Amino acid sequence: MKVSKGPPMKPFDRSIKIAPSILSADFANFGAECRAIEAQGCDWVHVDVMDGHYVPNITFGPATCAAIRKHIKGVMDVHLMIAPVDPYIEAFVKAGSDIVTVHAEAGPHLDRSLQLIRSLGAKAGVSLNPSTPASAIEFILDRIDLVLIMTVNPGFGGQSFIESQVEKVRQIRAMIGDRPIHIEIDGGITPETAPLVVAAGADALVAGSAVFKGGSVDNPEVYGRNIAAIRAAAEAARVKSAA
Ligand code: DX5
Ligand code: ZN
Repeated sequence: MKVSKGPPMKPFDRSIKIAPSILSADFANFGAECRAIEAQGCDWVHVDVMDGHYVPNITFGPATCAAIRKHIKGVMDVHLMIAPVDPYIEAFVKAGSDIVTVHAEAGPHLDRSLQLIRSLGAKAGVSLNPSTPASAIEFILDRIDLVLIMTVNPGFGGQSFIESQVEKVRQIRAMIGDRPIHIEIDGGITPETAPLVVAAGADALVAGSAVFKGGSVDNPEVYGRNIAAIRAAAEAARVKSAA
């Protein structure tokens, strides 16, 4: 299979990235939904892959990712909530993922999974469930480009933000130091919760319900307003925490 990809990712920086999760989009219209959120100013498109085994919900697999890739100009950020994961990593990279994130809890050989992702030419991410301590990534920091901290239990959109995770964001930000590793947050992100995680050190924010609520491909300006509201709250928190 030929790898279809967008332009290379921009060089690493800590600017705020808004990554709408298409878990909250119209599943019968992913192409138009991806085009709409990019036109309305999102930075990355977050793609939630669920297997009904590692998490209690099923979404879609590599064929769907390859199909939607053609409608994404920028970064396709693929969050794998599947176990086992290693046998499928190559298919998701070939589907055009820029970032492939695996769960630390989903397999016995996290270090190997991360090496595999990078060897295939994608950025490697590791995700931590709310009950997993920050120390889970202590010995793989040189293998990762991104840490995805779950602020809900993975499986569904529209759940409430788990506030105890803010301290984990702070711990991971301190562990990372100057390394070029993004800190991405996933679950219950809104203009109200975004400032908490940005002040603790996050730079990439996934948002499903808070981006797609009230809008549609026929009314995409609502997506734009929702994205702008999260970004404004996040950037204000960044300025305040730097002061
Ligand atoms: C949950 C997914 C999230 C989810 C976020 O398992 O990984 O990306 O779509 O949805 P909201 O923003 O609605 O909590
Ligand atoms: Zn996700």
